Amino acid sequence: MSSPAKPAAASQAELKRLVGEAALAYVQAGSIVGVGTGSTVNCFIDALATLPGGVAGAVSSSEASTARLRAIGVPVLEASAVEKLAVYIDGADEIDASGCMIKGGGGALTREKIVADLAERFVCIADGSKLVEQLGRFPLPVEVVPMAAAQIARRFAKLGGRPVLREGVVTDNGGHILDVHGLAIADPAAMEAEVSQWPGVVCCGIFARNRASICLLGTAEGVRTMRF
Ligand code: 5RP
Repeated sequence: MSSPAKPAAASQAELKRLVGEAALAYVQAGSIVGVGTGSTVNCFIDALATLPGGVAGAVSSSEASTARLRAIGVPVLEASAVEKLAVYIDGADEIDASGCMIKGGGGALTREKIVADLAERFVCIADGSKLVEQLGRFPLPVEVVPMAAAQIARRFAKLGGRPVLREGVVTDNGGHILDVHGLAIADPAAMEAEVSQWPGVVCCGIFARNRASICLLGTAEGVRTMRF
């Protein structure tokens, strides 16, 4: 008997490809573009190789995206060499109707937030499964300084969360990741502000302050553009 899981996975891949290509419309030839991390962004990078005129360069949020960008001949600049970017293109693990997101499923949240903060516009590219009414079903990734992991885990437990250390993962910055299950994030901005000031937190995976300006959502009917 054939498994029903395969067609669903294939169609999700197709939606990622569609939104990756749609994001090209937000990139000006000759500009420097901010580039996120993940399988949807990989589709965007593939599409970027076809942009007439190409880009002058990119600021990348991970070693993985940097390698892919270099492979298609895009020069990668340090974030410190750039004062601002017109646009940052990235995926999300969840996005709500106001453009707030959970990010960090791929572990690149800290650099993603740094590059997003340089950009005037955050264009989120996501398949339709990522749109949620309330953030928190996807476990919240939080990058922490290793010596503070247990202390921060206890704080999350007091908030009703179930933090799980992402085994064997060391981020590009030498940090560890806690994935916090069971949080109902009613006020993303308030929770981001609270968690971000706990000692030892490097980055909280809630992107409310750096929320999306636009989301290109891949749906069965095509690419839906949401503006926030
Ligand atoms: C990586 C991220 C990604 O944007 C997020 O995990 C979505 O990934 P994908 O496009 O593979 O579904 O935040 O840290």
